[in-house]
Amino acid sequence: MTADVLAVIGVGGMGQAVVRRSGAGRKVLLADFNEALLQDAVDTALGEGYDVASQVVDVSSRDSVAALAAAARELGTVTGVVHTAGLSPVQAPAEAIWKVDLFGVALVLEEFEKVIARGGAGVVISSMSAYMAGGQIPAEALADLAAKPADDLLGLPFVTGIDNLGYAYSVAKRANQARVQAESVRWGGRGARLNSISPGVISTPMGRQELAGESGAQMRAMIEGSGTGRLGTPGDIANAAAFLLSSEASFITGTDLLVDGGVVAALDAGRWAQEAG
Ligand SMILES: NC(=O)c1ccc[n+]([C@@H]2O[C@H](COP(=O)([O-])OP(=O)(O)OC[C@H]3O[C@@H](n4cnc5c(N)ncnc54)[C@H](O)[C@@H]3O)[C@@H](O)[C@H]2O)c1
Repeated sequence: MTADVLAVIGVGGMGQAVVRRSGAGRKVLLADFNEALLQDAVDTALGEGYDVASQVVDVSSRDSVAALAAAARELGTVTGVVHTAGLSPVQAPAEAIWKVDLFGVALVLEEFEKVIARGGAGVVISSMSAYMAGGQIPAEALADLAAKPADDLLGLPFVTGIDNLGYAYSVAKRANQARVQAESVRWGGRGARLNSISPGVISTPMGRQELAGESGAQMRAMIEGSGTGRLGTPGDIANAAAFLLSSEASFITGTDLLVDGGVVAALDAGRWAQEAG
């Protein structure tokens, strides 16, 4: 019997939570460019009884992503792909953010579309920042970000014209949502679904670094003003991913699920601006 394969790209806080929530009973292919972190994640998952394989990947390299997709196919029937690899503004300069968060996501969608099985599903992790600064992208630029071939994205004038790091991250994340929507049509042609999740502030290594950075105070104010008033956990995102991967979401494709504890709602209602300001 061929194995049911779940590929989890990025084994930081969210990736590891996805393995715990959705990995049991499947062959899980773990991938990350940080070899030490990847080995730790493999050891932990094996120790907890998961059936795991691993491969080093740099999501900003087409050859590397194509090799990962081929490895997943080699392991069995690729029924799930969860793309969590990413960089945030406290971790990297704008050039790396564009390469990993914009180009890398587009590459993963193009390469995994070739191997996803009928009935399979993909989930891409975007960000609530797509609903904030990322919401200001002109329609024409957004259409290009959604539909131009991955190899053209880094040369788009709209992209090369942005030098603000935080804005680059928000644009990349809004582009991820638009890209997922556009690519879901091709994935649908293979009988597979594709959606994104936009997390709020989640307590992972990345989230904690952001909270300790210069936007930390602003982020805490947003959380306090939100409907839930709390930080998100990696499990909150893994639960949403499990739903989108499952047959319960069989009529859901090409959309984004905002999992932010109510931050964007509070912001839109003017609550955070009042309390912070
Ligand atoms: N944590 C938050 O508060 C938060 C909020 C909104 C969105 N997000 C998004 O969620 C996703 C997951 O973040 P996380 O919180 O689990 O972060 P994390 O830092 O814990 O994990 C991200 C992983 O991506 C890997 N990675 C980075 N560049 C890579 C590359 N070129 N190739 C392969 N792997 C690479 C890192 O090594 C790391 O293991 C990211 O896309 C992030 O932008 C996070």
